[in-house]
Amino acid sequence: MFSSSLRRLQGRGRRTMITSRNFSTPPNPPPDFSDPTYWNSYHLRSPSIDWFSSSSPTLSSSLLTSIASTVISLRPSNPNPNSPPPTFNVLHVGAGTSTLCETLESYLTSSSKPYNLTHVDVTPSSVSVLKSRGINDVRLIDVTSLSDVLSLEREYDVIVDKGLLDCFVHSGDEESLERTLDNFATVLREGGRYVMVTNDDPDGRLSDFMEYGNKKWDLAKFNVKCLVEEGEGDVVVHMIQVRKKAIDPKP
Ligand SMILES: C[S@@+](CC[C@H](N)C(=O)[O-])C[C@H]1O[C@@H](n2cnc3c(N)ncnc32)[C@H](O)[C@@H]1O
Repeated sequence: MFSSSLRRLQGRGRRTMITSRNFSTPPNPPPDFSDPTYWNSYHLRSPSIDWFSSSSPTLSSSLLTSIASTVISLRPSNPNPNSPPPTFNVLHVGAGTSTLCETLESYLTSSSKPYNLTHVDVTPSSVSVLKSRGINDVRLIDVTSLSDVLSLEREYDVIVDKGLLDCFVHSGDEESLERTLDNFATVLREGGRYVMVTNDDPDGRLSDFMEYGNKKWDLAKFNVKCLVEEGEGDVVVHMIQVRKKAIDPKP
């Protein structure tokens, strides 16, 4: 059941966003955040909005650079230093029109090691905005669909999500939440990381993983870092890392 998440949502008074785009005080009637048509119109209306960004460009850029530097730090070490480093595969999900696309690209490029960076979103509007900005690999993908996710034809080291899982949690769409976690576990390599950025309570998110993804995710490796402290006009933003379980070695 999704009821525990909903109870947590209803019980939390501090679920405000840095900007006016606010999951907790939606207009009346509340939008369905798991409905792609809502997001398609949203990106058409507001093609240059970055979720969790702030009126302060400095804060916004420090948020993005923290995420990108964490992603870079998750590149697996080279098992054989005498051979070239393996390609680092990164999947950015629910990319919207975020400038995290460019930040990730520039961090990965400056590492001078091979990588693949793929950005996906369910909305044609965001895909077309990102393409018009010259972002290389952008795909129209519904993360709740296994066939869509498998069409990526790659195993990823890291999946990055800024505000995507929040959509399913905030709309109470437990089926999409469960399917998405399953689909992500399918395309992440063993031991790969799911990095999500949210202003939700990390304890609540841990419960979601226990409820919906316990068998596939190593919750002992559930790691939380605070990216933005609450201050005047700001809210708390967390980066949560969860590691995909490795298959137990044979006894
Ligand atoms: C809260 S917004 C965050 C956008 C962007 N990551 C940012 O930080 O500005 C959530 C994003 O998830 C996308 N999304 C919602 N449902 C999706 C789905 N089923 N598959 C892929 N993307 C989805 C929306 O189109 C939207 O761009």
